[in-house]
Amino acid sequence: MKDVTKSKKSVIENSTPLSDTRILGIETSCDETAASIVENGRVILSSVVASQVDLHAQYGGVFPEVASRQHILTIYPIIEQALQQAHMTISEVDAIAVTRGPGLAGSLVVGMNTAKGLSLASGLPVIGINHLEAHIYAAWLYFQNEPVKSEPQFPLLSLIVSGGHTELVFMDDHLNYQRLGATLDDAAGEAFDKVARLIGLGYPGGPAIQKASLSGNPLAFNFPRAWLEGTWNFSFSGLKTAVLREVRKLEEKGGSLPVSDLAASFQAAIVDVLVSKTMHAAQDFHAKEILVAGGVSANRSLRDSFQMRASSPVHIPSIALCTDNAAMVAGAGYYRFIKGQSDLLNMDVLPNWPLSET
Ligand code: KG4
Ligand code: ZN
Repeated sequence: MKDVTKSKKSVIENSTPLSDTRILGIETSCDETAASIVENGRVILSSVVASQVDLHAQYGGVFPEVASRQHILTIYPIIEQALQQAHMTISEVDAIAVTRGPGLAGSLVVGMNTAKGLSLASGLPVIGINHLEAHIYAAWLYFQNEPVKSEPQFPLLSLIVSGGHTELVFMDDHLNYQRLGATLDDAAGEAFDKVARLIGLGYPGGPAIQKASLSGNPLAFNFPRAWLEGTWNFSFSGLKTAVLREVRKLEEKGGSLPVSDLAASFQAAIVDVLVSKTMHAAQDFHAKEILVAGGVSANRSLRDSFQMRASSPVHIPSIALCTDNAAMVAGAGYYRFIKGQSDLLNMDVLPNWPLSET
């Protein structure tokens, strides 16, 4: 790592006010091609996301080769749009932050190579960002036309719930992660997607289950909650199997499936476990505040349940920032940039990169 903050440090030493720092974020870890400009790790000047969801819906999930080909087609126009919307040129950017992993290798490579190319052409430092860290830093962000958002305070208990991950993480400071537990099988988002398929709803399953649940009874089916007492781990495969068994039973009886009741009862079970375990961990680890991030944190029932049940302040990114975007990458990039991180241009993508080794 080379120190890129020297010029900023000497500005501090000369007691001249520190200028604003703008990071260009690039995200291509899965099926969203995204670019964004964020100021000082908090204010979104622009955020452009090109979703491939319609392309993948026909396959019932993300088709990796299709995803990387689509990233190649859209990445440059998306970056141009992000710069234009922020009324900036690349020369006004301080650094480029790019998702290095975890994610689909072929998708990550597109963002990484683009970032390296831009870095070579502009001389800007490039910083590789962990996608889960980026999800966490979405909680610091707000759009420039919004009121200033309160900043999460450490120590923090973070729950990351996305399509590929479900993790409970304790943070006593910026960029410091202690992984308390994770899912032993399906990620929360994956469970939403699989159950949606089981009950005949489309992809992605999370928003479809949320919508169907609105007209369903969450008490219609008493689906199991795997508490895994004594650990901070999660397990959702038993819940998924219980839904499958119920669906088979109902199909044998004939008639149409009570899709809304199944969706609402499944959602209630998963939300109950996520909220209860996170609150319990926050108490045990004396966390001041709770942070919830990742695609599943867009879920209305999960958001409401946290706000109703938690006794400490809960930070959840605005809905648009819960699912994959590049503003969160730029946000995390800022905190690494001011610490002096810059990666070498021979860095490679890390498709299985954990957030923390501990
Ligand atoms: O964070 P994300 O956009 O991508 C990954 O990093 O995986 O998360 C995508 C996941 C999908 O499984 C999707 O079904 C889920 O987030 N999701 C939701 C909702 N919106 C997206 N799950 C439940 N309720 C939602 N409203
Ligand atoms: Zn994600």
